[in-house]
Amino acid sequence: MIKRLFDWLKQPLGLIAVGIVALAVFSVAVYGIYLTQQPPEQPIDFPHRTHIAFGIQCLYCHPGSTRGPASGLPSQAKCWGCHQQIAKTQTSALLAPLKQAVESNTPIQWVPVAQVPDFVQYNHRAHIAAGKNCEDCHGDLSNQTIYKNPQVFNMGWCLDCHVETAGNDQEKLIKLTDCGTCHY
Ligand code: HEC
Ligand code: HEC
Ligand code: HEC
Ligand code: HEC
Ligand code: HEC
Repeated sequence: MIKRLFDWLKQPLGLIAVGIVALAVFSVAVYGIYLTQQPPEQPIDFPHRTHIAFGIQCLYCHPGSTRGPASGLPSQAKCWGCHQQIAKTQTSALLAPLKQAVESNTPIQWVPVAQVPDFVQYNHRAHIAAGKNCEDCHGDLSNQTIYKNPQVFNMGWCLDCHVETAGNDQEKLIKLTDCGTCHY
């Protein structure tokens, strides 16, 4: 039975069947990778572009970046401080979940997107202090709604910039590429 199947697979029709199956598996894999690159659904379709165009600084909503490892997300109290004074807040369907969260005093559950695994030590403060801008790593948000990563945050990405940062400075190169700098 198995042998007859293999014989059939070697025939032209069998080869086509193998090709179709291989193509289907490949497409599913590519689609899987595509999906992991898509931003997840957020509880509020938060428009970064509207807020940036309004002149609100990244640091107003993500103030941790200059202080320590994490940038942090704004609390709903911070959203509300502004939105309770904005007429549109009463009528906008996009803002209904914010109103509801404030009224029921339940925190908005944002889904993390910019993330590295726990065994990696990343610190915003060191990068901001060294003169890096948010855009260098998070891309241009002035045309985006909810955040999505402009690239995969893997080890190669960190190391590429660290090697470039060190340039000809051997001591810096050793420090910025040492395993213990990011894993301890
Ligand atoms: C400093 C003021 C300010 C803060 C803080 C702020 N917003 Fe806004 N937001 C605005 C302004 C201004 C608009 C544009 C309103 C308009 O179009 O009339 C806006 C628009 C929006 C819209 C689009 C509404 C629509 O119908 O188009 C959403 C959704 C929204 N904000 C959510 C939030 C959330 C969630 C937070 C907190 C994480 C937040 N905002 C914090 C000022 C602010
Ligand atoms: C009015 C407040 C506000 C401003 C201004 C703002 N953000 Fe955000 N940001 C949010 C909220 C709310 C979220 C969560 C929803 C989402 O993922 O888009 C978020 C998400 C993010 C995330 C992903 C967080 C995670 O947990 O994965 C990054 C990165 C980010 N913002 C960067 C920026 C940068 C860079 C700027 C300036 C160009 C900026 N933001 C301006 C409110 C703001
Ligand atoms: C050198 C690259 C780099 C720069 C510059 C940078 N970030 Fe990040 N950001 C990251 C990485 C990597 C993570 C994931 C960190 C983690 O999982 O611990 C992250 C995570 C975040 C998050 C979500 C998790 C958290 O820390 O709360 C926010 C929000 C954020 N960044 C905002 C900003 C803002 C705002 C700026 C500019 C002031 C900025 N970042 C500058 C690389 C960068
Ligand atoms: C866009 C460039 C860039 C990217 C991307 C980047 N870094 Fe850095 N990193 C720097 C610079 C610049 C410094 C400061 C170098 C110095 O001391 O002059 C630095 C320093 C560090 C330090 C040392 C901090 C200290 O206390 O001295 C650590 C740890 C670090 N980065 C981790 C990471 C990790 C983890 C990633 C990836 C998730 C990453 N970096 C991605 C540019 C980058
Ligand atoms: C500049 C920061 C940085 C340095 C230096 C660094 N790593 Fe990493 N490493 C990362 C990040 C970010 C990840 C998680 C993302 C990924 O899997 O690529 C990671 C993941 C890993 C993993 C898990 C891989 C996996 O597929 O899950 C191993 C193992 C590892 N690193 C070993 C090392 C060793 C060994 C060194 C020294 C030669 C080193 N790292 C230096 C940032 C760094």
